[in-house]
Amino acid sequence: MFVRRIAVVGTGYVGLTTGACLASLGHDVVCADVDAAKVERLRRGEIDILEPGLAELVAEGMAAGRLTFVLGATSAMRHTAEGPEVMFLCVPTPMGVGGVADLSIVEAVVEEVRELLPPGCVVVNKSTVPVGTAERTAELLGRDDVAVVSNPEFLREGSAVYDFLNPDRIVVGGSQQDAAERVAALYARLGAPTVLTDAPSAELVKYAANCFLAMKLSYVNAVAELCDRLGADITDVTEGMGYDKRIGQAFLQPGPGWGGSCLPKDTSAMLQLADAADFEFRLIRATIDTNTRQRQRMVEKVRLAVTGKRGGSLSHKRIALFGLTFKAGTDDLRDSPALAVAALLRQAGADLVGYDPALRPDNPHPDLTGVTVVDDPYLAAKDAEAVVVLTEWPEFRSLDWSRLAESVSRPTVIDTRNLLDPAVARRGGFEWIGIGKS
Ligand code: UDX
Repeated sequence: MFVRRIAVVGTGYVGLTTGACLASLGHDVVCADVDAAKVERLRRGEIDILEPGLAELVAEGMAAGRLTFVLGATSAMRHTAEGPEVMFLCVPTPMGVGGVADLSIVEAVVEEVRELLPPGCVVVNKSTVPVGTAERTAELLGRDDVAVVSNPEFLREGSAVYDFLNPDRIVVGGSQQDAAERVAALYARLGAPTVLTDAPSAELVKYAANCFLAMKLSYVNAVAELCDRLGADITDVTEGMGYDKRIGQAFLQPGPGWGGSCLPKDTSAMLQLADAADFEFRLIRATIDTNTRQRQRMVEKVRLAVTGKRGGSLSHKRIALFGLTFKAGTDDLRDSPALAVAALLRQAGADLVGYDPALRPDNPHPDLTGVTVVDDPYLAAKDAEAVVVLTEWPEFRSLDWSRLAESVSRPTVIDTRNLLDPAVARRGGFEWIGIGKS
């Protein structure tokens, strides 16, 4: 295997995972970030994000001398006399005005390193970017001797290291076949199927995959609604669907709607992309609308459970929210469906107390305005008119539901993840309301 000199610009969850995992595959990696305090923390082996296995890989890489952290992209270019053979761009591409991906950070980095990249270097775009960005990056670089390829990441938060080291596939796209092959070779030890293609196709794979996943979830959530209305059981329905190999059991779990840092951003960007290409992508529009409605449906479930009426008032009703992050296993609140449901409940006048195993009350987050966060689920439930499970943290299953029943004012749990064992909740004295489980 060739050991390559690699620079990774951006140490967010994609960049840091990429850097640490490539170092673990034997490459020499320098990671750069613009945040001086973060670089200092990384040098001390301190990791800001909750990502299983990442701290260990970072420590191993640093101890082996294969992983270094520097301040700024320029330092990464000058880290060795020869400069990097491959440079990964792993900087944020936030959702800008009207859902269009904001590429200003990518552009700023390209401008910074333009004259510093050694001849023969390959620039790899790992950030999720609109189709055409690799070509635009090549134009901005204006260097015939530097190739640009797209190599989308498919990492899930909470299992990013596992996903990186056990990929379902590697996708690399670029106009220069040898540069794309060189990037694919970095992952050779992982033995994953590799798709070598042009840059626009590689860029589209990421959007097409994430939008498909979002569509799958919106579909399941809509079927769950139908189950509620028809008296069917969504767990049995999805199990029956999932044995069909063309469908599969994964990603069929109904919930309060999908969220996180990728699916909402990528579905919006796909709509923009289609729009710009003069194509009305109605399926994606319906996928997003179904997700927005799913959150409202959760509020209607709470309203009905608490007031006994469809249009009943939630004004000053105390509601306990169990789980606030966008999924279990992460401390990330970005585009969390739990927060969207919380905002709707607040608009309806409810008083909200939240508990999440990954959040500390002494570290308030701006997105949590209007939710009193406590560090004890029993305290959160005190005097509540309903407990609403919004994130699928496994520990909620083993709570003492009898003890919870004693502290609430009404023992009703609305389980938007169908997480709990209904029999356990009922034995504890709770009325259990799931979704698609009429
Ligand atoms: C996703 C993609 O899975 C990953 O490939 C891509 O690189 C980034 O976006 P992530 O955002 O970490 O990863 O979360 P994921 O585990 O996919 O969950 C997304 C949302 O869907 C969460 O809100 C989650 O709770 C929800 N979800 C997921 C369900 O409601 N049901 C499921 O069965 C699976």
